[in-house]
Amino acid sequence: TGNVTYDPGFMNTAATKSAITYIDGDAGILRYRGYPIEQLAANSTFLETSYLLIYGELPSATELEDFDQKIRRHTLLHEELKGFFDGFPRDAHPMPVLSSAVSALSTWYQDSLDPFDPEQVELSTIRLLAKMPVIAAYAHKKSLGQALLYPDNSMNLVENFLRLAFGMPTEPYELDPDMVKALDLLLILHADHEQNASTSTVRLVGSTDANLFASVSAGINALFGPAHGGANEAVLKMLRSIQADGVSPDAFMEKVKNKEDGVRLMGFGHRVYKNYDPRAKIIKQTAHDILAKQGANELLDIAMSLEEKALSDEYFIQRKLYPNVDFYTGLIYKAMGFPEKMFTVLFAIGRLPGWIAQWREMMLDPERKIGRPRQLYTGHASRDYPQA
Ligand code: CMC
Repeated sequence: TGNVTYDPGFMNTAATKSAITYIDGDAGILRYRGYPIEQLAANSTFLETSYLLIYGELPSATELEDFDQKIRRHTLLHEELKGFFDGFPRDAHPMPVLSSAVSALSTWYQDSLDPFDPEQVELSTIRLLAKMPVIAAYAHKKSLGQALLYPDNSMNLVENFLRLAFGMPTEPYELDPDMVKALDLLLILHADHEQNASTSTVRLVGSTDANLFASVSAGINALFGPAHGGANEAVLKMLRSIQADGVSPDAFMEKVKNKEDGVRLMGFGHRVYKNYDPRAKIIKQTAHDILAKQGANELLDIAMSLEEKALSDEYFIQRKLYPNVDFYTGLIYKAMGFPEKMFTVLFAIGRLPGWIAQWREMMLDPERKIGRPRQLYTGHASRDYPQA
């Protein structure tokens, strides 16, 4: 182990070179392919941003139209795959349902599994982009015991997802343009974040030449944890418990600072951002706009009060803990009508183009090697098996 560097949590180890996303955590900067997140949030769409991440450049109008059409053509799930959803308990969390169904795509779409065939990679890319939102909506519908609708390909990706998640077979689904816009924005903000835990998982699995479906399925499982994508659900649980127990924000902050029962202020802190997460800045305004439409919101008030206290508190200042993207997203998703279990699924839909872009970049990297960390062994020295 002489030349092995010990770096738990990969705090200082760059496992790859990448030209996709740039983060300066001290300055609070995030760029996709060089474009600042603020400009993409203001001007782009999730579809266009997905294209940018995956292919490296913004599409021309024709390229975007072609990309859009291809995705619309692939929204249908194999009819047998729909039966798959019956195999889970009704109260199943939709994240493992999503990862299982995405993993199962390898069995139904065997003509797009070769990671070294550019046409198959392209086909699996389009299939995933088109089908994952449908799978996510079906996981939600199954948990409600409601009918699975067929996609309506006159709608775009985000519209289709909302209709599949909330629509009923008995009446036409009325899209709320504010909701479409807000969800599109949230998906843009989640679309990539360089080598986070789930993306690193996608790369690690892909480094063994595993296909795109298998690699993304592993990424979904990594995203499930509350320290990563599960944080948005954890934030809302935290806000609700503060509300239900009648604990004052001050008293809750004391608990956090004293590290009582390991309580953390969920939605705060980030491995890379030691400054305000630029995505949280953009989202905070959206949270206010969406929630204002619904009148007074006690949970938003609690969130704002916690944020204000944290930003002026020595504990948080010293440790450079600022709100991250998930501090406000849960509140927005809830206002849209999604149950808490679906929050991390929405994160997964957003992160998908990033996973795909990173997997494709890795596959074409001439310096690519199988991911295989080393260790410092701390167990027993050699010892003999006891003889009778
Ligand atoms: N509340 C209270 N204390 C905190 C928090 C928090 N949210 N986050 C970090 N700390 C403290 C931590 O106790 C430690 O204190 P000390 O130096 O006294 O031991 C110090 O700050 C450094 O924390 P760390 O755990 O070593 O930092 P990390 O870079 O390993 O962890 C993190 C980053 C995001 C896992 C962590 O900040 C956290 O658990 N936050 C809450 C969960 C959350 O919001 N996660 C979403 C992250 S953004 C979206 C995503 O990537 O999915």
